[in-house]
Amino acid sequence: MSAILRAESLSKRFGGLKAVDAVDLQLEEGEILGVIGPNGAGKTTLFSMIAGSIPPTSGRVLLEGKVISGASPRRAVRAGVVRTHQIVRPFQNLTVLENVMVGAIYGKARPLGARDRALELLDFCALRDRAPQLPGGLTLAGRKRLELARALATEPRVLLLDEVVAGVNPVEALQMTDLIRSVRAKRGLSIILIEHVMPAVMRLSDRVIVLDAGKKIAEGKPQEVVKDPRVIAAYLGESAADSAAAARGGESIPTPASSSSAAARPTPPSNPTPTSTAAKGGATTPLSTSKKGPGERQ
Ligand SMILES: Nc1ncnc2c1ncn2[C@@H]1O[C@H](COP(=O)(O)OP(=O)(O)OP(=O)(O)O)[C@@H](O)[C@H]1O
Ligand SMILES: [Mg+2]
Repeated sequence: MSAILRAESLSKRFGGLKAVDAVDLQLEEGEILGVIGPNGAGKTTLFSMIAGSIPPTSGRVLLEGKVISGASPRRAVRAGVVRTHQIVRPFQNLTVLENVMVGAIYGKARPLGARDRALELLDFCALRDRAPQLPGGLTLAGRKRLELARALATEPRVLLLDEVVAGVNPVEALQMTDLIRSVRAKRGLSIILIEHVMPAVMRLSDRVIVLDAGKKIAEGKPQEVVKDPRVIAAYLGESAADSAAAARGGESIPTPASSSSAAARPTPPSNPTPTSTAAKGGATTPLSTSKKGPGERQ
């Protein structure tokens, strides 16, 4: 495998806060890289810099050797990098199909075949029968699949998934992990996945990095990372680490007492979805927990 995407000493400061602090990462072609860490660790901010939503304070992101950071989401999408948003807010006055067409058109000078591509992606994401409806009628899991379909419609090479499993019920969580697997298998994408739901992280990730207070504190195979004392202390806790270590390949796995993702602070604005600044309102998934739960950070 060779690296398709690389972040070099990436940092973001918000006033006196170092939200992301000199993080290096490398994504191999065809890899699924998991990103975990407590609430406020800097995971979403890391994505925002990679996806061009916010400029880094220092450091840079390269896609196949070319710098893509510090430009704009549109430039990142054109280069082949797209993100989903932690807070999923489709365009409420557009149909499900039209929402995906926004992704198909976004950043393209000549968006030919946008409708057909959108329909094909609705099939892929099990939303075809919802095409003419408004997204208001979708469940949270449906809205997350819509977000994924919209992102895929931009025809990315690198997909950044920000908590697409968290907040949905266990059956839907398994469906989403299957869908993410087939995104890689059938579409050949390289994926970075932020997730608090540890069974999903363990099942999907080839490799995991762990952020805490903006810094990368661990990196390695999922089974190794969950046994790392620094990761247990910062995020997982003892019993959760045991469960997570048993999880790869398992079915119903208790997870670390973790944070629901669907419950945090506003996300910085970014196109092509209007997901930017909503207060979070999702439910805590029974599969998801972390030592530093939502109550500590809201
Ligand atoms: N636009 C912003 N302005 C100021 N501070 C911000 C902004 N965005 C994020 N932060 C702060 O940066 C830190 C990292 O936030 P970030 O959203 O990246 O964390 P996270 O790891 O994604 O957390 P969670 O698991 O809760 O989603 C937090 O302290 C947050 O309050
Ligand atoms: Mg986040």
